[in-house]
Amino acid sequence: MGQGRLPIIEAARAKLNLYLHITGRRPDGYHELDTLFAFVDFGDRLTISAADKFSLTQDGDLDAQLPAEDQNLVWQAAHALAVSFGIVPTGHIHLEKYIPVASGLGGGSADAAAALRGLCQIWELPVDDSKVMQVAQQLGADVPACLGSTASLATGIGDLLEPLSLPSCGVVLVNPMISLATPLVFQAWRDSGAGFSPAHPPQQALTSYDHLLECLGSRHNDLESAAISQLPVIADILAALRGATGCALARMSGSGASCFGLFQTSELAIEAARNLSALQPKWWVKPATLNAPLNAPMGQDRDPE
Ligand code: C5P
Repeated sequence: MGQGRLPIIEAARAKLNLYLHITGRRPDGYHELDTLFAFVDFGDRLTISAADKFSLTQDGDLDAQLPAEDQNLVWQAAHALAVSFGIVPTGHIHLEKYIPVASGLGGGSADAAAALRGLCQIWELPVDDSKVMQVAQQLGADVPACLGSTASLATGIGDLLEPLSLPSCGVVLVNPMISLATPLVFQAWRDSGAGFSPAHPPQQALTSYDHLLECLGSRHNDLESAAISQLPVIADILAALRGATGCALARMSGSGASCFGLFQTSELAIEAARNLSALQPKWWVKPATLNAPLNAPMGQDRDPE
């Protein structure tokens, strides 16, 4: 076991789908997507230390929402990685949970990806081995994107990735603290009879905030109406974000229920989050920075004052 720099701290950054077009459906039922993944400087934290036998503990603001240990994606990631490399899993992972569960922010996927990165270090496995990517794909459609946690365009079921340059800007994340199951939202989308959208990936890097807004303005999230039909409060969240001073665009992420608003600066986002929290104390509201450098400190301890 590589114990040189233990314990290892891995940030599990929340992901956003800045747009999400459903472009087709595979014979296995999964939907084909054209989507733009981006990450924020807010998320869960994994602390990985040496131990002869593998174990997982968890706490944090939202750990009561988590499933039992062996159904946790972190546990599954560790065991799938060990099987793939033919080794016995070791080490202790402590998961601090701050991202709402089943919320469209990829929390479980980010945790699984962070576990794969951290365990590759302590088990001395090459993280860029194709077997690690295969394990990520098995664990969930968003896990490959979370492995790198950098902005990327995705096709396939969201697992075929191509990096894309994005600017950094302020963002406010809002969730009503009601979880929404992804398959239910895809089912509601199918029941609505909506047709597929064209794949419409941007052809060049998005180098400025204006470029980003222009790109997103002509794209959308196909699952938004379906999710609102299951959980109408999402429409209230979008309206509240659109009414916030400085919010240039508000949209749902993934299959919801989380929504995000984009702001030119992190200061504007912090101010908007503070006002929204005061108006809607039951909503989970977090200001963050979109596409912050990967070595930037995480903002999970930051609350609107
Ligand atoms: O892969 P993941 O666990 O994130 O997906 C959860 C569920 O969401 C899948 O079982 C599937 O029903 C649905 N899904 C889909 N098409 C995708 C991603 C997810 O139909 N591209």
